[in-house]
Amino acid sequence: MKRLSALIASTAVALAACAAPTTPAPSASQPTASPTQAPAASVAEPTKPPAAEPTTPPPTEVPAPKPEKLTVLCTPQEDWCQAMTKAFQDKFGIQTSYVRLSSGEALAKLRATKDNPEFSVWWGGPADTYIAAATEGLLEPYISPNAAQIPDAQKDPNGLWTGVYVGALGFCSNKNVLSQLGVEKPKSWEDLLNPKLKGQVAMAHPASSGTAYTAVWTQVARLGSVDAAFEYLNKLHQNILQYTKSGSAPGQMAGRGEVAVSVIFSHDCVKFADEGMDMLEVSFPEEGTGYEIGGVALIKGAPEPEAAKMWIDWVLTAEAQEIGPTVKSYQLPTNPNAKVSERSVKLSEVKLVDYNFTEAGKSRKEITKRFEDEITVAPK
Ligand code: F6P
Repeated sequence: MKRLSALIASTAVALAACAAPTTPAPSASQPTASPTQAPAASVAEPTKPPAAEPTTPPPTEVPAPKPEKLTVLCTPQEDWCQAMTKAFQDKFGIQTSYVRLSSGEALAKLRATKDNPEFSVWWGGPADTYIAAATEGLLEPYISPNAAQIPDAQKDPNGLWTGVYVGALGFCSNKNVLSQLGVEKPKSWEDLLNPKLKGQVAMAHPASSGTAYTAVWTQVARLGSVDAAFEYLNKLHQNILQYTKSGSAPGQMAGRGEVAVSVIFSHDCVKFADEGMDMLEVSFPEEGTGYEIGGVALIKGAPEPEAAKMWIDWVLTAEAQEIGPTVKSYQLPTNPNAKVSERSVKLSEVKLVDYNFTEAGKSRKEITKRFEDEITVAPK
């Protein structure tokens, strides 16, 4: 009989436990997320019946719906933009498209569409143009959890942009054309002023191209003032065949023998040489050269902010930064865990000028206007 009543008692305890809710019901001392909940005083009113025990657990946070698509404003080489957007789409199942625009064109696009942005994230292109965009309020701060892995010197502390690669500016020359002209490969900025190179030098226009803007600011950095830089650029203009829109195009002109020397990022010269233009060779100015920190940033008013943040998180990983060399884009990764291609030009092997990205970015508008007004129109 004693065993029977013990069995009845333990069954009752077990049944009571089953009926209890799995999460505690809200009490007067436990605020809930619901803004419509009655204040504690009304719960205590004696005339009201006690609140019924919930039979199902109160709702927990509803997960955000998975983003479906992403539109990237992409500044590096077309094939790298393709490889990156495809890899992101395959990994996350987010339909990802891109438009390739040079840095200055990208900045103009962001300005023109700022009330109704077409892109959610901007990837690639030197940081000075990102700083120019941030100064105009076109970027939205986002500090990715993965940004902690990126060195401080290669990111904005407020998350307006974060570095995804770095690379040094150099000279990319066609050996055959140089030997026909009887000119040695250039080893200094002054070498580019050689009268034998008249019409034999190409670089991009700094208003459209981040590469060319890096070349212009490099003169400011090495010569000490904007005026001195323009004096040099004016002389260089005498030898320039053409200012192209995209930064790397002059390297292809050199590869085709249309000019002897181009001023481009050294990694683009290595890419073109690896792709078959094997008469191209890289050299660096002994006075020092400029370099880029390629950026990534969330665009203010992004139509797809969640997918854009996922992109930013991902492009900072070692895995994503190892995609470049698969399409012969040899910029150096900013994530210290990413493998470095043996084809990459290491910054430590090149003499660099003291390149102030903040100053360069803030001066971009003024300097590119001065370039338009003084250099592009100057007689040859
Ligand atoms: O071609 C790749 C690349 O040189 C990048 O390293 C650089 O960030 C970008 O192009 C700059 O492009 P642009 O000079 O056309 O703005």
